[in-house]
Amino acid sequence: MEADTKSQLVELLRETIYDLTGNYYPDERMRILEYKLERLLKELNLHDKPPKAIIDYFLRDETKRKMLIDLMTVPETRFFREREQLETLFGSLLKDKLSLDIASVGCSTGQEPYTLAMMMRKRGITGRVVGMDINEEVLKKAREGIYKKDEIKDIPPEYRDMVEVKGEKLEIKREIKNMVSFRQANLIKPADFIPLKDRFDVVFCRNVLIYFDAKSKRIALTNLRSILKKEGILVISATEILGKEYFDLFEPIKVGKFFFYKKV
Ligand SMILES: C[S@@+](CC[C@H](N)C(=O)[O-])C[C@H]1O[C@@H](n2cnc3c(N)ncnc32)[C@H](O)[C@@H]1O
Repeated sequence: MEADTKSQLVELLRETIYDLTGNYYPDERMRILEYKLERLLKELNLHDKPPKAIIDYFLRDETKRKMLIDLMTVPETRFFREREQLETLFGSLLKDKLSLDIASVGCSTGQEPYTLAMMMRKRGITGRVVGMDINEEVLKKAREGIYKKDEIKDIPPEYRDMVEVKGEKLEIKREIKNMVSFRQANLIKPADFIPLKDRFDVVFCRNVLIYFDAKSKRIALTNLRSILKKEGILVISATEILGKEYFDLFEPIKVGKFFFYKKV
């Protein structure tokens, strides 16, 4: 592909991804995507087509849109990610809870919702965790609950009886799997959140909104707020911050060195 045509395609793709997902891809992230895209275009025999035709192909129907979405999302995650933040939350704002409904939005391959279910079970808290993501491929893997054996290193020893090592695989045990379900949802689509209105005590959305711009972030936060119960808690990553322009939606609560956000 000629350099000019390629940069045209990259721009069109950036716009399309933004419209579909709310993620604004900066140049360095686009470069990573270009390589994956080239491979896909060759597979689909589209690499010689003009940029507009390529984008139109992907927008033609739901299945093709999904191909593009699955290609662009970054599924990086791990069990007990930012454990100190999780321990702080369970040890303070959730300390006296006997039952909890938790959502993990942008849950990727499921390590976050399974971690939360394990933490609830350890503390004798009943309830459920719902994992949601825009990417159907990661949700398939999440539902299976089967991971590589070496991911056991991320699971603290006191939780390892909740998983089973089978050959080269690590499997989430039935009692934890039974607490967790998964559904597809796009953070910028209010319709995906309406059926879950006012349902959750806590909503996690960690390491997801970092690539959203101000406009799509407000839409996403409004959707997340809508599925929280009155005074429910939003948890974003400890490396992210919710600026005061969003304090009409959430009020920050500082516990130790961490900020959590209460529905206003
Ligand atoms: C880096 S992973 C974060 C996983 C997990 N929350 C964690 O912190 O380990 C980001 C996830 O957000 C999802 N995502 C991106 N845009 C989304 C959107 N518009 N709606 C729902 N999920 C989205 C991606 O598919 C990806 O699985």
